[in-house]
Amino acid sequence: FTVDWDASAAEKGGWPSFMDKEIHEDPEAVANTLLGRFDEQGDIVLDEVHIGLDVFRQIDKIIVVACGTASYAGMVAKYAIEHWVRIPVEVELAHEFRYRDPILTPRTLVVAISQSGETMDTLMALRHAREQGSRVLAICNTQGASIPRESDAVLYTHAGPEIAVASTKAFVAQIVAAYLLGLYLAQVKGTMYRDEIRHILEQLKGMPEKIQWVLDNQAGNVEQAAKQMVNAHSFLFLGRHVGYPVALEGALKLKEIAYTFTEGFAAGELKHGPIALVDAGEPVVVIVPSARGRNILHNKVISGIEEVKARGAYTIAVAELGDPDVEQYADVVFWRPVCPTLLSPLVDVVPLQLFAMDMAQLKGYDVDKPRNLAKSVTVE
Ligand code: G6P
Repeated sequence: FTVDWDASAAEKGGWPSFMDKEIHEDPEAVANTLLGRFDEQGDIVLDEVHIGLDVFRQIDKIIVVACGTASYAGMVAKYAIEHWVRIPVEVELAHEFRYRDPILTPRTLVVAISQSGETMDTLMALRHAREQGSRVLAICNTQGASIPRESDAVLYTHAGPEIAVASTKAFVAQIVAAYLLGLYLAQVKGTMYRDEIRHILEQLKGMPEKIQWVLDNQAGNVEQAAKQMVNAHSFLFLGRHVGYPVALEGALKLKEIAYTFTEGFAAGELKHGPIALVDAGEPVVVIVPSARGRNILHNKVISGIEEVKARGAYTIAVAELGDPDVEQYADVVFWRPVCPTLLSPLVDVVPLQLFAMDMAQLKGYDVDKPRNLAKSVTVE
């Protein structure tokens, strides 16, 4: 009698790869990042963020600096924080930020987002911001790393160690941390009623279950689509509003581990260039906003699908359960449960993470260690 066991299989908790394990930890990463960040009254409590209330009240601009996946978490943060706090939020790739002359004042809060906490460009960007007199808050997944150590404050994501090079669970945790920061600022600055904040918190608490629903009910669907698309040479990803950063992240994942040429873009740009790429059989992945509340963006995105479909594209949609229109135009639909628009990236990215992983596995690639990439880029 022998048991198939080795240390590496045990580390992966029975999953075939770290990436597989980590995608399945998305719900836990969200739940753990929320844990202990609010009290019984539903007030946001960020005890570990040692920046005085008076300083927070004075903040009149946020600049998010990050690289790769973390920068897309920053883009999601922009939509939520501007809506809740009514202050401008800029998102900039750290390597661009550090080599120009950004406008920084003591009332600017620079938010450095980094899973590893060691990305050189992000570290240099925050040093630059502090030299100019701005405060820096790090959103980081690694205790005691350089970026949190050199920041004025840190909000840790509690996603647990992320081993696969392509980031998955850290991304959803970064988005949650950014929401918490936004809600905290709204509370401190009084831009939202307490009840509104409490309501969003309740919705946030329900997100792990919704992510779990996607993992339990859509993985088969996603795998089937990957099998069908495995020989495709390129993919286009499009989304609007918070679906835009999700499209960028979906495109990045597929590029990183399946070595497929992808382009992610804002759906409104379709006519300004990308539609020229659409040919018979070209796969196009579309993040469809909810149709609820007569959301005009829903119809606009649906008509984008129609346009690419009319040119022969093979369309994959990520859409809300009960969407009245999507099935008519999409060849494949990855469904998400009903959830508030601003929080939808947390679920919408999940089938795209699975899709990239399935594609890479079907092509026989090592999904945890893609060629030419490093988990943390500590050089320029
Ligand atoms: C590398 C990784 C990406 C990650 C990026 C930023 O490129 O391969 O997965 O998104 O660095 O890393 P950070 O640790 O700063 O989030």
